[in-house]
Amino acid sequence: MFDNEPNLTDLDFEASVAQSLALSPPRIASKWLYDDKGAILFEGIVSSPDYYVGRAELEILDAHAGEIGAALGAGGSLVELGSGASTKVRKLLDAMPRLGRYVPVEISEAQLLEAAATLRDDYPGLEIVPIAADFTKDFDLTAVVGDGPVLGFFPGSTLCNLLPANSEAFLRRMHGLLGPDSFFLAGVDLHKEPEVLLAAYNEPGGAIWDFNLNILDRMNRELGTGLDRADFRHEAIYNADLRRIEAAIYPLRDIVVRVAGQTFDLPAEQPIVLEYSHKYTLETFAALAARAGWHTVDAWTDHNQLFSMHFLTNRSPA
Ligand SMILES: C[S@@+](CC[C@H](N)C(=O)[O-])C[C@H]1O[C@@H](n2cnc3c(N)ncnc32)[C@H](O)[C@@H]1O
Repeated sequence: MFDNEPNLTDLDFEASVAQSLALSPPRIASKWLYDDKGAILFEGIVSSPDYYVGRAELEILDAHAGEIGAALGAGGSLVELGSGASTKVRKLLDAMPRLGRYVPVEISEAQLLEAAATLRDDYPGLEIVPIAADFTKDFDLTAVVGDGPVLGFFPGSTLCNLLPANSEAFLRRMHGLLGPDSFFLAGVDLHKEPEVLLAAYNEPGGAIWDFNLNILDRMNRELGTGLDRADFRHEAIYNADLRRIEAAIYPLRDIVVRVAGQTFDLPAEQPIVLEYSHKYTLETFAALAARAGWHTVDAWTDHNQLFSMHFLTNRSPA
């Protein structure tokens, strides 16, 4: 079902890294960036001044959380995919006093449980059901959400990390996970001048660099690879033909590494891709969502038109 996508293969960390290093160019699944340390490093990116995604998304949520809550109605479930520190979702929770439950789904279990405990203190009347899961794999929410209305929430442009065909397949899979009569709110980064994108993804504060090089620490710790951060640099480039950022680490010299009993050459300056971030217009993303069986209720941008949120439903028109 999924095409050429390390993020979506059902392998453990070691097997996935070995498979990724055999690709040309090597491409390690970005989900492995989020171990406990990576989850904390990611928070540093969200607050960096050049990385507009978090600010723009909060602005859109501020403006539209009320109407999203009204559409969902009372007693519904809010399911966040890749919930991280569950920060942005507070804008929705604050605007949805009649929400039945919040279901954060997150691969980084320590961060998930900590965020759920904090939210329980701050929203004492709300049922919170954290699920430690990889959202690329099948899991069942029926017992958790019952038959009330469900809103899937996928902020942070995480959907844009997938190849467009796989984003479409992912959205199609959401019908089964969330059920019929559901809503889906997706954060989607907009096509814009490459200079703005490159400034955001190569932000000078070094937070993204630090976050991406954390993959080497994880490989050393879990796979015994003995790599040295000082032998790599980080750079994000813009691929204009495919309208995507390609964030990669580059060896500064020829390196040989052993993973899962196999030997891999990592030649100097050959990128090891860690993340693609595809850029859409409002129209190209709405068309992708429609191909996946979702109708657009509305789509919003921040005032600088840097970022968009698409509010979708699979409810049949009345
Ligand atoms: C870009 S961050 C977004 C965090 C938060 N939703 C926000 O918008 O600030 C992506 C989050 O998704 C999580 N994640 C990435 N891949 C995942 C997967 N396959 N399954 C579950 N969670 C995943 C990461 O751990 C991280 O917390």
